[in-house]
Amino acid sequence: MSLVTQINKEKVPQHIAIIMDGNGRWAKKQGENRIYGHYEGVNSVRDVVAAAGEVGVKYITLYAFSTENWNRPKEEVDALMELLVSTITAETPQLNNKNVRLQAIGNLNSLPPACLQELNESIELTSKNTGLTLVLALSYSSKWELISAVKQIAADAKNGLVNIEDITEKNIEQYLCTKHIPDPELMIRTSGEHRISNFLLWQLAYAEFYFTDKLWPDFRKDDLYEAILNYQNRERRFGKTSDQLTQL
Ligand code: FPP
Repeated sequence: MSLVTQINKEKVPQHIAIIMDGNGRWAKKQGENRIYGHYEGVNSVRDVVAAAGEVGVKYITLYAFSTENWNRPKEEVDALMELLVSTITAETPQLNNKNVRLQAIGNLNSLPPACLQELNESIELTSKNTGLTLVLALSYSSKWELISAVKQIAADAKNGLVNIEDITEKNIEQYLCTKHIPDPELMIRTSGEHRISNFLLWQLAYAEFYFTDKLWPDFRKDDLYEAILNYQNRERRFGKTSDQLTQL
């Protein structure tokens, strides 16, 4: 039986977050430079977005460029930015065909103007789509996001718009980049690394983590299905006991 047919459509995570890792190592294994790995990684992005849409995932967030990635060699940063622009431009018609809505989170104003412009255009052109929402985390890090949120809350408190005593979880969520996006139930990281690298620290509080040794350019549709099936076999307790859950 194929993997996709084994997936219980009633229990598909509505939001999957992915740390796409291993492009550089993949390229090195082929005797190529790191940038070749990023180009190949775009094929996995295409595959995984299609697969997620087909099984009814509502949101997929891809960690495409972290705040820390700005510290990579200039030629790699420039190549990644160029790749983002060319991919976003080239893929927008396909996103529309597949009813995918594009969104982005992160310090977007730090992106090169051409990249930001393409991104905004694509976000606008796909904004009416009602299928999967593809969220690109760009120039994103969780600590940056939390610092920005704390600054905004402090400013609102100072201006009398927020009562410090009234601050709640829900309230804080309104100050995060993900305010209109439900928390991921599943986080996948490729390439055998077992870290979350400053990615969605608040939002992943109750997510199930799935790690695979596959390098990102080798991660394709069936790998996503395998991760979803693995997720569906887990018991999500949210701090309760197993017995409490079965009594429901
Ligand atoms: C991590 O691999 C990957 C990245 C930092 C970039 C991810 C970008 C893409 C897959 C291409 C563009 C994506 C979109 C959404 C258009 P690494 O370079 O850290 O690999 P390594 O750990 O083997 O060095």
